[in-house]
Amino acid sequence: MVKYPSFEFDRRRFLGLAAVGVAASAAAAAPFAAFAEDAGEAPLKIATIGAGREGGALGTLFAKQGHPVMFSSQHPEQLKDLVASAGPTAQAGTVEQAVGFGDVVLLVVPYTAVEQIGKDYGQALAAKQLVFDVSNPIARRDGEAIVSLVAEQGGAGLATAKRLPGAHLVRGFNAINYLHLTADAHRPGEPVGVPIAGDDSNAIELATRLIKEIGFEPVLVGGLAMGKYLVPGTPLAGEHTPAEIRQIVATLQ
Ligand SMILES: NC(=O)c1ccc[n+]([C@@H]2O[C@H](COP(=O)([O-])OP(=O)(O)OC[C@H]3O[C@@H](n4cnc5c(N)ncnc54)[C@H](OP(=O)(O)O)[C@@H]3O)[C@@H](O)[C@H]2O)c1
Repeated sequence: MVKYPSFEFDRRRFLGLAAVGVAASAAAAAPFAAFAEDAGEAPLKIATIGAGREGGALGTLFAKQGHPVMFSSQHPEQLKDLVASAGPTAQAGTVEQAVGFGDVVLLVVPYTAVEQIGKDYGQALAAKQLVFDVSNPIARRDGEAIVSLVAEQGGAGLATAKRLPGAHLVRGFNAINYLHLTADAHRPGEPVGVPIAGDDSNAIELATRLIKEIGFEPVLVGGLAMGKYLVPGTPLAGEHTPAEIRQIVATLQ
């Protein structure tokens, strides 16, 4: 099983590595570019709230697939290198602009930010087809108090739903290391499975399409209540085949 990465990784170094990684993988990714269009599916406007290590890497995979992507953070002016490496379908904006832009929103922020994002943009997020919750409560980054609170609220899936009322949430990619995403996408042989959890069938269907497009195999493990297992440090964390995920889930129930 893959160990979860340190959160002490410097973001500038990440952006540099992302640019190198993307350049190195561009040739490999090229055959899959515009897959959405080839498959007859219209591209979807995808916004990321949070464009650091995980949000940057995931958003880049969607941009390389031909989807228009708007990366956002509190400091969008710092996202120029990321946008350049993600390619012509990518741009950066404020969180407000990204929320206005996206049909689908990837929420990829430190968990402490989720509550305020819900207060500021909850209504707009509830109108989206899918809010993809990649965020985790992590004690060493977010503090023990929020980790305990999230546990009391039923785990990360239900806790995010409480902070974003009405949002069509699906959790996924929560414990796949950002450094591995590019290599894992469309890997030869058996795909990497992505355990997902959600309560909204349309949002699950859309998440399923998007995950497959970027070269992973989604495995629905249950409703948002199962989101508590989609965090680092559980048996589902790291990379597993779809069959392994199903076996692990059977031991959790
Ligand atoms: N790193 C991984 O391998 C990995 C894997 C799976 C899941 N995750 C989860 O993904 C989330 C992000 O992790 P990360 O490693 O990508 O962190 P990161 O590199 O520190 O990036 C966090 C991003 O969130 C933005 N942000 C912070 N507060 C914000 C706010 N209030 N509003 C809007 N944007 C905000 C940051 O930019 P500004 O500070 O400029 O706003 C930055 O773009 C975490 O919950 C983590 O547990 C991480």
